[in-house]
Amino acid sequence: MDARHDALIIGAGIAGLRAAVEVAGRIDVAVVSKVYPTRSHSGAAQGGIAAALGNEEEDRWEWHMFDTVKGSDYLGDQDAIEILARDAPRAVLELEHMGVPFSRAEDGKIAQRTFGGHTRELGGAAVKRACYASDRTGRVIMDTLHDQCVKGGVRFYSELVLADLLLDRQGCRGAVLLDLASGELRTVGSRCLLLATGGFGKIYRTSSNCFANTGDGQAIVLRRGLPMEDLEFVQFHPTGIRGLGILISEAARGEGGILRNGSGERFMERYAPTNKDLAPRDIVSRAILKEIREGRGVGGEEHVHLDLTGIGEERLLERLWEITSFARIYAGVDPVKEPIPVLPTCHYMMGGIPTTVDGEVVRGVDGSSVPGLYAAGECACVSVHGSNRLGCNSLLDLVVFGRRAGKAIRRALDEGRFAGADARVSDEGARERLESLRRARGRERVPALRGELQGEMMEHCSVFRTGEGLVDAREAIRGLRERYREIGVSSEGRRFNLEVLEALELGNLLDLAQVMVESALFRKESRGAHYREDFPERDDENFLAHTFAYRDGEEVRIEKKPVAPGRFEPKKRSY
Ligand code: FUM
Repeated sequence: MDARHDALIIGAGIAGLRAAVEVAGRIDVAVVSKVYPTRSHSGAAQGGIAAALGNEEEDRWEWHMFDTVKGSDYLGDQDAIEILARDAPRAVLELEHMGVPFSRAEDGKIAQRTFGGHTRELGGAAVKRACYASDRTGRVIMDTLHDQCVKGGVRFYSELVLADLLLDRQGCRGAVLLDLASGELRTVGSRCLLLATGGFGKIYRTSSNCFANTGDGQAIVLRRGLPMEDLEFVQFHPTGIRGLGILISEAARGEGGILRNGSGERFMERYAPTNKDLAPRDIVSRAILKEIREGRGVGGEEHVHLDLTGIGEERLLERLWEITSFARIYAGVDPVKEPIPVLPTCHYMMGGIPTTVDGEVVRGVDGSSVPGLYAAGECACVSVHGSNRLGCNSLLDLVVFGRRAGKAIRRALDEGRFAGADARVSDEGARERLESLRRARGRERVPALRGELQGEMMEHCSVFRTGEGLVDAREAIRGLRERYREIGVSSEGRRFNLEVLEALELGNLLDLAQVMVESALFRKESRGAHYREDFPERDDENFLAHTFAYRDGEEVRIEKKPVAPGRFEPKKRSY
């Protein structure tokens, strides 16, 4: 054993850091990060964090809860959503007290703006609910939490990648980590372990995600016989920069930006007459692609325009400084004067590792939990987002459920639960896998396989899906998984061997792709971000349920788990 801690947190994004803050100074906690901690992907979150503070206009947590339930297309668990919406104002004020430099309203209170799907009076007009720090909200929250962790004496392990969990019948007892700098595996024991490894947008060709988002935590959990919940639901953010996928925040539309098709028409008026450009992302993304399919893209090409010219330079630079510079640098347009060419980009995974509302990882539909194993953030599925997440509910999910997981870990350790690692827990599997990858001299190369996988997922398992396309994707993934066995790397070198790292990551993406496609085939309906052209209606009778998918040898087995009901009955969505 190279080290031992009471608790190990894998991932230094906002969920992991928030959990660490909760336990810092009370137990011996270490945070493991694949990248330098403040490079974690939460730093890319731009537009805001939702909370019914009511600073700029009347708002209520019940309205927030309703919007989240409706936005989820009624697949979100209402017990968890109630916690999210109720706790949001406290969570945001707590961040303010920790030092997060939120933008300010005229009276000095935290400023708020409108965002997609957030409405007043249970489905009326847009309400100002997104608390923001210009368009760098995730960045400042993450940096503040990191400061708090440093202050609290949290130990950080930088540039170490999760290679396996120390998991046996007794539960989770630590992790095996690949140290990128030395190329060595390190085995770290712990009494509790929290997975906060983020999403895996890199499974698609076009994504707003960073390169590190390859689903390492989810894939390892899956390989260890545990399920993935609702993996078929993938959010495409409507406004990625054409060709690159770099995010142009929804805040741009919250501040008055308008989507226009090739003839300059504000087409969202036809798709969502009340909320227009501020309808939820699943609806806006489909509308954009429909415009393009029907020949109304700009100049007959594959994009529409995001027009920010009505906002004015001063406001743009004050509230949307970062995306203004992104548009200038990456799209070569000045949004003060010209529209930005945009196209939907893979942004977020609604599904992931199933957990209780206290972050405990569950084994299956019976809800029993795995001792010592927790998950929070995008890698987890609690499930507050159901089949479609509302903008600004992600940062909120990270801080609300990151804190709850931290509290649960503290409680468990105070009660003396979870013995932690002992000499009987083996890390041999991870060592053998790594060594065989290092020695792999097959003819297949990672970039080619990854490119094919990303192309298949883009073509057959993105905004629009059909049974036929998904079967094609199933076959393609099967072939890619076979070819993966013939992978070769050219260097056995240990220090920063990114070829080996990318081979590990590709293995993770292939396993998750298989489950995602099987879950999408299983769900013969359209709901939220999962749109089956061959089953265009929502089917509550058969599918008002979560999917729990398990690896069964080379196959995938799927079970259904009923959605937790609550005060809001399922209705047809309109915006
Ligand atoms: O558009 C955005 O700023 C993204 C926010 C989010 O995904 O919550």
